[in-house]
Amino acid sequence: MAFGFDASAVRVFLGITPPLDVPYVGTRSAMVDAMLDMAEVGPSDYVIDLGTGDGRILIAAALDRGAGGLGVDLDPSLIDDAKAEADRLGLSDRVAFREQDLFDTSLQDADVVTMFLLPSVNLRLRPRLLDLEPGTRIVSNRFDMGEWRADAVREVRGYSAYLWIVPAQVAGLWRLEFEGKSIALDLEQSFQDVSGTALIDGQSQAVTSILKGNRLRFGLEFGEERRVFEGEIQGDAFMPTDDADWLAERIPE
Ligand SMILES: C[S@@+](CC[C@H](N)C(=O)[O-])C[C@H]1O[C@@H](n2cnc3c(N)ncnc32)[C@H](O)[C@@H]1O
Repeated sequence: MAFGFDASAVRVFLGITPPLDVPYVGTRSAMVDAMLDMAEVGPSDYVIDLGTGDGRILIAAALDRGAGGLGVDLDPSLIDDAKAEADRLGLSDRVAFREQDLFDTSLQDADVVTMFLLPSVNLRLRPRLLDLEPGTRIVSNRFDMGEWRADAVREVRGYSAYLWIVPAQVAGLWRLEFEGKSIALDLEQSFQDVSGTALIDGQSQAVTSILKGNRLRFGLEFGEERRVFEGEIQGDAFMPTDDADWLAERIPE
């Protein structure tokens, strides 16, 4: 009987590398395309691929869409494969691969985060993902993010691809100045779902909206007339995206 040994198991046993949180399974190319498509990955994007494996998602992002980025994985042989493939394709100036724990990887520079991990790992990452710049896109093969509903889901040959867009933080009190009126908005937020009340001429009115990154849109009734407020959250301001004549500011607590 021959005794084979698994090099990565020995490295874990010797404490050279931490144990994997997820075993290796490669994403099929149709799923890779769907994920990059949903995240609208383009040449100006920096993609961070968590648990990159042989780097196929990041390599496709660079090769097909001109993106740059970083892939991290704990398995050194997969990282070697990813680097070799990036070299072979002439992509090494745009993508880097590093043997590194995804939980120790800074995500702050990401325009897009890609992953094929596990539900429990996605949930552990969730607070850090929610803390990224509003508008950052996150795509996951197969596994969701619990209560943080995906902004889009696509079925690819029996499996789901999920997209989330990091929402801006809008909960709190706002003052909306519009046609000489000063409207108090009291907003609550659960991930991308926004609800609350608007106080117009002493009358309270419900507000509901879905945030897409830093883009917010809701309607208010002024007598018979309904007016839509659509714009961008920029720090403590909510400003129209067109040339409409309103402006909202966050009221400090
Ligand atoms: C399901 S595979 C996905 C591989 C690749 N992203 C793909 O979609 O083809 C998960 C990968 O995560 C890596 N991994 C597991 N735990 C990790 C950790 N804590 N930090 C970095 N990589 C990890 C594994 O080595 C494996 O390559």
